Amino acid sequence: MAAPLSARHVERRQSWIHQERQDCLSPGEAQTWASGGADSDSLAVMKHASDHATMLRLILGAVGVASISTAACAGCGSVVIDGVSSGSGTAGSGAVGGGGATSGAGTAGSNAGSGGASGNSGVTVGGGAGAGGGTGCPAPVSSVPVDMPQNGPCSVGYEAEYICFSLPKPPATCEDLYPKACVLDAYSCGYQTYGDEACGPDLANPDACCYTVVGDCPIGRPFLVHGRARLGTVVSGDSGADRSWADRMEPDVSALDRETRRALADFWGQEALFEHASVASFARFVLHLLAVGAPADLVQRAQLALGEEIEHATLGFGLASAYAGAALRPSALDVSGGLDEGFEAAGIAVAVAREGCIAETVAALQIAAARDAATDPVIKSALARVAEQEMEHALLSWRYLRWALEHGEVSLQAAVTAVFTAPEAHVGIGATTALPGDREAMRGHGCLPPDERRALAADTLARVVLPAARALLAAVGSRAREAGSAMPWAEVNAMPGAAA
Ligand SMILES: [Fe+2]
Ligand SMILES: [Fe+2]
Repeated sequence: MAAPLSARHVERRQSWIHQERQDCLSPGEAQTWASGGADSDSLAVMKHASDHATMLRLILGAVGVASISTAACAGCGSVVIDGVSSGSGTAGSGAVGGGGATSGAGTAGSNAGSGGASGNSGVTVGGGAGAGGGTGCPAPVSSVPVDMPQNGPCSVGYEAEYICFSLPKPPATCEDLYPKACVLDAYSCGYQTYGDEACGPDLANPDACCYTVVGDCPIGRPFLVHGRARLGTVVSGDSGADRSWADRMEPDVSALDRETRRALADFWGQEALFEHASVASFARFVLHLLAVGAPADLVQRAQLALGEEIEHATLGFGLASAYAGAALRPSALDVSGGLDEGFEAAGIAVAVAREGCIAETVAALQIAAARDAATDPVIKSALARVAEQEMEHALLSWRYLRWALEHGEVSLQAAVTAVFTAPEAHVGIGATTALPGDREAMRGHGCLPPDERRALAADTLARVVLPAARALLAAVGSRAREAGSAMPWAEVNAMPGAAA
């Protein structure tokens, strides 16, 4: 059972109801949400909120774009912005394309630097620290997306690429010239620049050194430093070591075979590292908000989100420890260089659009889907709590983006718009594991299969992220026009699914 909501949570929910959710929930649902409710009620409300249509409405409420029709919310028709007096003849003319944005599953994706993987206790999930690094590695001659292999170590990931290097002169071999770290370093998917697994060289192709490389994608809120997601590693918590990073969690492991437990330990360890990195991301976001003079309520919500990411991390390490049968915790996180990119308003807005509005919106709905699929009550309850909080984090990003667009220069608006013209570069499916495990058992314990998460990510882009972005940009553009300022409509019209 989920822990009772604290007074702080109840108070915050009540304020959110008034500010953002009035249009989104029925009076009964709103009352349940505001009061914290019983677990079952809470889950019912969250199930409602996990729906794409409701998430879109929550975002539009958060950015103050009035309301839209239910059909439009569901992404099955054009999105009509009720409350926006928009310009004529462009994407801001009141009708913004709804469904049909972006491509199907398998193309919307990219990645978060979880380079490396595995193990059980002592699982090592590599990240920004040291993996490849790109120094001294030869450049590939070609790299094309391919279907994910059906089995083997490269069968699990978000995207597979077939990467080829020049054939070396004998007696040198592919292995001599292209160590695995270099092959992994050649992988690129959105803002991840390091793969998770490489298979090859492909003996069927004697004219080059070719490898299938698979990678994971950014999910939640990554901590990016110089374009690369920075993660810690999972380390064993020996007796007497600090166990504060692992909550005491007791999922029912009695029916799980040894391999499935190992796979779940690996999966939850990676999830926990993502959450751990999100703490750093929000810590930096608080500084960003202060640097650009953002309103106090945004700073306060960022601070709350930071604390919730710590909760998510301790929950994740607690689950990883439970499946591993050994205490696990994060290593120290390398945060050096984390502020190198400065405090320029446009750069901050672009980062929020990528990491918060796109990646974290997708993450919130993926976690909600994992909650719905979970059969273990401990997992279900934990994911319900995390999904609710991740949704709030995503909404915070959308609210900030509205503020930044309204207060920023046209160049900021153009930079943000450009992010949404290729949103698939900033979406992921989260942690994956190459370890074998029973698919249904893992599903019941919070690990949705990659294909389901991949499809959900594409769907969320098409039905939630892009309609919300177009509505927001239209609303801001309309006000900018009234104020005599330009708006980069050409870029807005270039967004996937935009009205012709
Ligand atoms: Fe989180
Ligand atoms: Fe989050």
